[in-house]
Amino acid sequence: MLVRKFINAFHIYRTRGIVDLLHIAVHKLPKARVDLTDAVDVSNEYINWLYYANPGMLHRGNLYCIDYAIRNMPDNTPVIEIGSFSGLSTNVLSYFKTKYHITKPLITCDKWKFAGAENGGFVGDSASVTHAEYREFVKKNYMRNIRMFSRHDLPYTLEMVSDDFFAAWRQSKEAIDVLDRPIRLGGSIGFAYMETIPMNMPDGTLKTATNSWWMVDLSSLTIPPTVQSGRSVKLLLK
Ligand SMILES: C[S@@+](CC[C@H](N)C(=O)[O-])C[C@H]1O[C@@H](n2cnc3c(N)ncnc32)[C@H](O)[C@@H]1O
Repeated sequence: MLVRKFINAFHIYRTRGIVDLLHIAVHKLPKARVDLTDAVDVSNEYINWLYYANPGMLHRGNLYCIDYAIRNMPDNTPVIEIGSFSGLSTNVLSYFKTKYHITKPLITCDKWKFAGAENGGFVGDSASVTHAEYREFVKKNYMRNIRMFSRHDLPYTLEMVSDDFFAAWRQSKEAIDVLDRPIRLGGSIGFAYMETIPMNMPDGTLKTATNSWWMVDLSSLTIPPTVQSGRSVKLLLK
């Protein structure tokens, strides 16, 4: 297979030149598919049971990345998460935090404002479930899920979008989380996990103030499979 591709490429190079060869290669690249079943999956018995009970969107390829990042993050720094939804990734983050003896807290933010809910009304063509009810349900689900699965190291969760969260972080503000607990923000971030992209990334000021592993799941963009595959993210993090 590879030999045939090489012969083809060589033929194109001989007959049409390097420019055409590069042109064809560049056009073929976006069509290249990385097989998601190829992702490294480090699920264990606990993680499997967590996935059964806690709904969420966390691709299992990310478990390897989270494990890797938390195992290698700078000492004495917190983990943050942008976008917790029903708490699946939050509970996974606190599981690995405990596993690697990270004592600084996990601090997350989510305003539970979902795409498509801007105009209110029913969720899709549901006959009864409104966006407002759905939002309330997911938020309550989140709190219930972290109280169950992360009760030994309850994360702090601020009901904010990332821009407000990072603004408060830069100002080292004290905030009240969804479980009514105060938390002082600010300082270096050890590892930031984001599983969503429609947000502004923190500006240069915050970036230089941190010594972080930034891991971004670009699942809504064009390169999801590579990022969702544990192997590829390992390369990104190195
Ligand atoms: C893809 S889901 C996250 C899935 C979650 N990590 C899991 O394990 O299932 C996206 C979440 O991010 C939240 N979100 C989207 N944009 C955000 C932003 N700019 N700041 C904070 N949260 C955001 C949404 O409300 C939603 O709960």
